[in-house]
Formats: sequence, C-alpha cells, structure tokens
Amino acid sequence: MKHFPPQAMPTVGWHYDRMALVLHWLSALLLVAMTALGWTMMAIEHTPGAPLYFIVHKSVGLMVLALVVGRLLWRRSHPVPQLPSKMPAWQLRASQLVQVGLYLCMLALPLAGVAGALHSKSGLVFFGYTLPRLVAPNHDVAESYYDIHGALVWLLVLLVCVHVAGALKHRLVDKDGVFERMVPGRR
Ligand code: HEM
Repeated sequence: MKHFPPQAMPTVGWHYDRMALVLHWLSALLLVAMTALGWTMMAIEHTPGAPLYFIVHKSVGLMVLALVVGRLLWRRSHPVPQLPSKMPAWQLRASQLVQVGLYLCMLALPLAGVAGALHSKSGLVFFGYTLPRLVAPNHDVAESYYDIHGALVWLLVLLVCVHVAGALKHRLVDKDGVFERMVPGRR
C-alpha cells in the first residue's frame, strides 16, 4: 500500500536505497546501545567488572566511528531523496540543520572518546589489542576530552529528539510519505 499523496511523490529519487536504510538503522541501534553502555559503565566505574565494559565501549565505539564515515561516503555517491516541495522553507532549512548537526555530532562524539582514550593511562584498545600509543598519557587532557565526550552525548540526545519529532510529524500530521520511506518494507 502506498502511503503518500501523488503531489508529494516526485517520480525520481523518492525512496532511500536499501544500503541507506541499513546504515541508518544500524547506526541508530548502535548509538542507543553505546549511550546505554556509556552511562552504565560510568555508574559501575569503580567495580571489578568495569574494565570489560570500557573495552567493549571503546571497541564498538571505533566501529561506530567507521560506520558513520562509511555512511557519509555512501551519501556522497548516493544523494538523499528530496523532501516534498510543498513543505514550508523554514521546515526544510530546520531539517537540513538538524541533519548536519547529527552528522557532526556522530563524528565529534566518538572522536572525543578516541582523543580521551589516547591520552588515558589505559590507552586506545580494540577488543584484545592495544593500539599504538601516539601521545604520552596525561590525565587532565584525557578528562577534558571525556568532558567534551559526555557533553556531546546530551547534544546528540537533543538532536535525535528533534529528528524523531520531525519524523513523527510527517507520519501523523503531514501524512506525506516521508516517514514511510525510512521504514523497511513500507515502500
Ligand atoms: C560512538 C558513539 C559513542 C557514544 C554514543 C558514547 C557514549 C558514551 C557515554 C554516554 C558515556 C558516559 C558519559 C558520562 O556520563 O560522563 C561515555 C563515556 C566514555 N566513552 Fe564513549 N561513546 C561513544 C564512542 C566512544 C569511543 C569511540 C571511545 C574510545 C575509543 C569512547 C570512550 C569512552 C570512555 C573512555 C568513557 C569514560 C569517560 C570517563 O571516564 O569520564 N566512547 N561514552
């Protein structure tokens, strides 16, 4: 069943391709899991089991960083479908700003984690492997990067809330098919 009125559906480039859908939902899932893991590990930071949480967090975080870079590269060669032209200009602009903010945040957040880990005593690890130490450990510098890392999580949470609110508006108010094109199997 189609979910958009004909006037909202350009003939070319309306749908996201399969890879864009996979990359979107995989990064969404991993970012939620990483946030939950980050907060959990901070709550149990001084318990004997904590180091394992840190290793998993750093390792999966590096994979998420690679995924976001891959997603940006994919996007360069596969332009995103347009939004309906009947949308008010301010909404189109707001949607672009939130998307740019999300990508910047998805890059800066893991990069701040990497910078913190590089300056920490335990270093940057990827599952069993300790990656080459590029800088001398410095507790204060590591903590500053972790402060930025923790603050960016809140910025990401805020941007995701605005992003989800926008998506729900398309689904419930505008009913223009924009929501459905990011839902697998709803073409
Ligand atoms: C990819 C997305 C990531 C998300 C969503 C994320 C999320 C979080 C969260 C929610 C916290 C707890 C912050 C707090 O409450 O203060 C945290 C802490 C931490 N993250 Fe990440 N993280 C990510 C990537 C990374 C990466 C790539 C690394 C390093 C390779 C990393 C290393 C750390 C470390 C070491 C801490 C503990 C900081 C401290 O001791 O204050 N994170 N992260």
